[in-house]
Amino acid sequence: MQEDSARVRDALPGQIPVSPENPCPFLRALVAGGFVDGHTVPLKTIAHNIEAASGETGFKKRVVGIKTFGVALIANGLSPLRLLKSLFSGADLDELRNGPLDKHGGGSRILDADANVQPGEIERLASFGSDYPDPNGSTERGLNEAQVQAFMKANLKRDGDRARWYYPLLMQGEWPVLLNILGKGEGDSRYLSVAEVRTLFVERRFPQRIVARLMTKPKPASIVWRIGKALVGTAVLAAVAVLVAWMAAPDAVSDTLSKVLPKKVAALIPPALPETEPTKAAYWLDQGWTTKDRHWFHHVTQGTATFPIPYAWFMAMEQPYLSLFGAPGLISDSAYLERFGFIPSPKSVEGDPSALRPFGYAATTAAKTDTAPALPAGLKPTPAGNEGGLPVGFARLTGATNPATGAAESDKIGLTCAACHTGSIHYKGVSVRFDGGPGMADLRKLEEAMGFAMIFTQYVPGRFARFAERVLGPNASDADRDTLKKGLKAATDFALNMQAKNYQTAIEAKGQTETEEGFGRLDALNRIGNQVFYLDMAASGLPNMLGNQEAIDAPVSYPPIWTVPWFSWAQYDGSIAQPLIRNAGEALGVFAQINLSPEPASNKLWRSSMALENLVHIEDMLRGPDPFATTTPAFGGLTSPKWPEKLFDGDDAWKLDPARVERGRKLYATICVECHLGPVADPVFDKTYPDKSFWKIKPAEDWESKGWNAKGPILDLVQKPVDAMQTDPGQASILATRKVTVPGFLDIDPAKDLKGCNLPQGSTTDMPYALALMAVVQKAGEKWMEDRKLTEPERAALWGDRKNCPNPAGKSYRARPLNGVWATAPYLHNGSVPSLYWMLTPAAERPTSFCQGARDYDPKQVGFAVPKGGESSCKVGQTLFVTKDSSGKPVKGNSTLGHSFEGPAKPNKDYPNGIIGGAFSDEERWDLIEYLKTL
Ligand code: HEC
Ligand code: HEC
Repeated sequence: MQEDSARVRDALPGQIPVSPENPCPFLRALVAGGFVDGHTVPLKTIAHNIEAASGETGFKKRVVGIKTFGVALIANGLSPLRLLKSLFSGADLDELRNGPLDKHGGGSRILDADANVQPGEIERLASFGSDYPDPNGSTERGLNEAQVQAFMKANLKRDGDRARWYYPLLMQGEWPVLLNILGKGEGDSRYLSVAEVRTLFVERRFPQRIVARLMTKPKPASIVWRIGKALVGTAVLAAVAVLVAWMAAPDAVSDTLSKVLPKKVAALIPPALPETEPTKAAYWLDQGWTTKDRHWFHHVTQGTATFPIPYAWFMAMEQPYLSLFGAPGLISDSAYLERFGFIPSPKSVEGDPSALRPFGYAATTAAKTDTAPALPAGLKPTPAGNEGGLPVGFARLTGATNPATGAAESDKIGLTCAACHTGSIHYKGVSVRFDGGPGMADLRKLEEAMGFAMIFTQYVPGRFARFAERVLGPNASDADRDTLKKGLKAATDFALNMQAKNYQTAIEAKGQTETEEGFGRLDALNRIGNQVFYLDMAASGLPNMLGNQEAIDAPVSYPPIWTVPWFSWAQYDGSIAQPLIRNAGEALGVFAQINLSPEPASNKLWRSSMALENLVHIEDMLRGPDPFATTTPAFGGLTSPKWPEKLFDGDDAWKLDPARVERGRKLYATICVECHLGPVADPVFDKTYPDKSFWKIKPAEDWESKGWNAKGPILDLVQKPVDAMQTDPGQASILATRKVTVPGFLDIDPAKDLKGCNLPQGSTTDMPYALALMAVVQKAGEKWMEDRKLTEPERAALWGDRKNCPNPAGKSYRARPLNGVWATAPYLHNGSVPSLYWMLTPAAERPTSFCQGARDYDPKQVGFAVPKGGESSCKVGQTLFVTKDSSGKPVKGNSTLGHSFEGPAKPNKDYPNGIIGGAFSDEERWDLIEYLKTL
């Protein structure tokens, strides 16, 4: 009733009352004049009226109509339901308040929140104008196009922080349109009469000439126009609808668009992210590390600045979404980062244990503590915290200096080992977490989202101001803001050009295409190569290095890293023996800064930001003490996680069947031992099959026989030629075939640098990538030690006993011990097999497509439950692993073949390539799986 009386009070004689909930002067006049209803008006009717009022003809008139249609469509709100309602029944003109078009007293402020006219604001409008010759011969006050723009700009400024980023867009649909419709005169002197504006606002009346236009019945459009209009209308509508829908549900829309758009266009859309599975409880499994060790490993810096912006910017930047109301969340928000596949982590593990429970830390950890040995030369690992509340694997690099100039730099943000080497499985709302397991993150999506966030921060109105306030505080000077803006632009240019664009250019020039890594996979070797031999060199000012880049086309599943320090050879292809080289090479790969500039006198060549002391300590923690130091030999350090039967007490899916385990053990002893060796932690196996026991090795002899000049055991892995295994050849080909060019002044000479390897002398400018990388990492390591003035024995202690030499075995894959294998799906080096069940079926029957990221664990198939025939559609934001692209061509790096058990078993094992055993019966398969769960 109140509303009605307000309407009556306001209505002039002969006018229809207008609700104060309609804040648009133009629509108010349309309603008051009886041209449209005051309540629900079909969008077409609104569009026709405004078309008519515009006085435009032909195509221009249609454009006015279509624009109006689009604006009217979203005027009442953006939820999908509301959009449908607007589309089918029309806009509710008396419910426009608080809709997306309402600027809440922003804008001109001529109509206040109760739809009362403020005369002072009309005077203010007039003050932006000047006098124009009226077509009738006199002059009158008015605003031309430029003055209208100046007026709007001043309105925005007056609104300050309350202005939303899209106001400027909305405003373009208001005053300029009003000028278009009501304007008198032509060209620059076309002006909007202040007197007519006053009449429009106060009396809700149009000038007579507009009324006349509105009264003329529109001529029926010709059929050509109708079709044209329909087409243009549909296109504009679709674009508006897509934008609006993207704002409302960005991930779902990006997901759909990325599937239907050409790759290059899809690259212009921020990546779609899956929703995190809701977690009702979380547990870290016991693996011999204390809670403190764990948290340190999760957040200690290895000296990397993986992200191209400082820590403070990372903490202050908003997510690459557009939001109509309020600001989007921050990229550093843990819940957002979890959607890329990361695991949440507390700020600290000191203090109240109950606060740690949601993160999976039990109040009492029974972990034994083999404290890692002290570092030589008084070096100390850096303490690590997580004051930013970032997920596992994010580390703040403090006290950084520029390796080229020595100047102090702001804190950086980088990934540490745990980002890629921390595993988790999700089962019915329970998250089970373990260290050293395969990470599930999709780093490409993260890189893309970062790029978009940097762009949005610069170009989405209002966003930079908020960013600057978070970084600089509220009282920063204009000069400081300016410097920040320039810095952000430079960082964005670096990311877009040096990283993204130049990479694309380089691989296109080579005719290469990349393979999507997706959740849980990374082409570490190719990425390290691109980082060190292109990006680091280009960043150091070395020209012409573009050709050193190769396509990322051999993604591998993040490998588990428990027990690896004992392996004779690390990496899937068994390419590295030297642990410090392995870890430092990886640190360079995730962007430890390194100076490669040819500046002679400085003695800064090879100086880097690597935190070698931390890398060594991490390796010590992973390795643990001599396994023969105890009466029953066993690997310590980080142990593999045990099948969590007890966590799921009462759930039959997790119950182990002892009879099956027994039969599975026998199958393992018969078939798998040949390559995977005796299990490293199964005393029953050792007792039952003493000949096949892993622990029958004689440590000293074994060590010596491999040429390691020290005492101690070694886990001498079986290596199998790629040709014999027939698993995907991609990863093993990288180091076997990739070449790089390096500038001569760097003096990289593998024959000389890689001591004790007896390599033949080769070129010092064009060389195998494998050797170049080994040499570069070694030089960076030596420089680090030289800068700290370490003595020879101290250096030797840091390097350890292993030589930095290439593997003579040629293209091969290793068979690793299968401890903890239940926790490491998807399987094979390229993560192409979703479960143990499918590992043990004939290769040709394995699924050729499945969804990666944010999915539940299946304790039966052990891994991800994927049906025969595979999966073709995934949840929003997940990535789809496929063996063939849409044109039927095999995707490089994605073969699911090899390591097959098929056909009759042959006692002499003379299987053809790709087959390593006879087919299993279903029972045998389940028996084996049951046993593998216990490892
Ligand atoms: C950006 C992700 C990422 C980070 C960070 C990372 N790694 Fe890795 N790591 C990988 C990938 C992928 C591989 C497999 C490379 C291959 O064999 O092609 C790997 C391989 C390894 C291996 C060899 C595993 C095996 O089966 O032989 C070890 C050990 C290892 N990493 C330890 C570390 C340590 C220690 C750190 C930190 C100092 C670290 N990694 C940081 C991704 C990462
Ligand atoms: C002839 C040697 C050989 C035999 C026999 C063999 N494997 Fe393997 N296995 C390998 C090699 C080599 C790899 C690595 C292949 C790759 O990643 O491309 C591998 C990989 C695996 C993996 C994947 C590990 C990972 O990193 O994801 C599993 C699981 C596995 N084997 C299970 C078994 C089981 C169970 C048996 C016995 C029934 C068995 N294998 C018998 C050589 C063998």
